[in-house]
Amino acid sequence: MSDAGVFLPQEMIRTKRDGGTIEAADIQKFVAGITDGSVTDGQVAALAMTIFFNGMTPDEGAALTLAMRDSGDVIDWSKYGFAADAPIVDKHSTGGVGDKVSLMLAPIVAACGGFVPMISGRGLGHTGGTLDKLESIPGYDPYPSIDRFAEIVKTVGCSIIGQTGDLAPADKRFYGIRDVTATVESIPLITASILSKKLSAGLRALVMDVKFGSGAFMDSDKKAEELARNIVRVANAADVPTTALLTDMNQVLGRTAGNAVEIFETIDFLLEPRQADKRLMTVTLDLAAHMLALSGAQPNFDVARDKAAVALMKGKAAEVFAKMVAAQGGPADLYEKKHDYLKLAPVVKPVLAGKAGFISGMDTRAIGMAVVALGGGRTDPSAKVDHGVGLTEVCQVGDRVEADEPLAMVYARDDAAAEAAIKSVRAAIDLKPVAPESKPIVALTIGE
Ligand code: URA
Repeated sequence: MSDAGVFLPQEMIRTKRDGGTIEAADIQKFVAGITDGSVTDGQVAALAMTIFFNGMTPDEGAALTLAMRDSGDVIDWSKYGFAADAPIVDKHSTGGVGDKVSLMLAPIVAACGGFVPMISGRGLGHTGGTLDKLESIPGYDPYPSIDRFAEIVKTVGCSIIGQTGDLAPADKRFYGIRDVTATVESIPLITASILSKKLSAGLRALVMDVKFGSGAFMDSDKKAEELARNIVRVANAADVPTTALLTDMNQVLGRTAGNAVEIFETIDFLLEPRQADKRLMTVTLDLAAHMLALSGAQPNFDVARDKAAVALMKGKAAEVFAKMVAAQGGPADLYEKKHDYLKLAPVVKPVLAGKAGFISGMDTRAIGMAVVALGGGRTDPSAKVDHGVGLTEVCQVGDRVEADEPLAMVYARDDAAAEAAIKSVRAAIDLKPVAPESKPIVALTIGE
């Protein structure tokens, strides 16, 4: 069809609807139409639905990803004085509950020689967003200009910002339409959406953290693995070496879920790593080691993991995080005055176990929704979040508790909100008389 002169979006949709294959040139024209508005919402929705049902061939998926990446600016790091082989690397998580890994990971990787231009998202549904967490720090600017972003990456080693309109704008419109037409859960569309944004940051390597389990975005472990394999394949085809880790989201990651509470946990993790939650530590150091090895900042995974652990233990990562926060407009004395800057909600209540036993499992999604109901997340992309609410001291699978001990502490704006959260969190956590079998947080590594 691309040879036939005038491009008709409906003809391309028809081809895909009838099980045919669409050409890269037509995909590029369709994506250009998404960006400049010449393709209608109805046509975008129709294409999304045909892809939802018919899938895409590997070539179609790669063409869609690249066209969406090229719909806006692609950062050229050589313009900012980076060498052609500079280890510019990022991580992307498919999202979870209590997933604050990016906040410690970017500084650890930067402290070991990597450069991390991290473009993060906001929370949606039951999942939290790195950007919302960072915005609990007064003054933190998640939208510097691209020139300032590059300068921070160069001088500090990492910068965490939000998606700007200049990077992969086609995805912004495409995702918005998918969101309201029940077409989000399509592996080729998710792949193109995630990778177009990541690749527009001009990365030399990427590590994916694909979550599975009760708090994950993908509704089955099989689909999570399928997504991970597809992302690795498409990213490698786009010449960005990529590794994906499949990680367990069957429980809250770390001991907090919310916004300011997760910044507190991040600061404690960076300043007192020996006290940190073990699963959070494992996944963070594993991801850091893959990022450092894949980007060439360190020679291999084992050396990189040791370096990452030393940088963390010696406080180097804590120094980088503090510098990044200050460079993005946050306070220079965040660690010293964290209680002045990070304001928590006034009503603090325990979720009591009610009976003795071992934590045997969690409905992690329900816990995420309890945080959303407190005001700490959003179900509508334009809603505001309350940074001060959330959960702390969240128990972990395998913990032993007595009847009068807390499973978590709730931070709420008022008693009614606290009581509702207590009820939801208690109902989401299972207790059994015997300890469950322990499972590794990193279940599978794809693309090594
Ligand atoms: N996250 C994204 O960025 N895009 C999707 O399509 C799904 C999750």
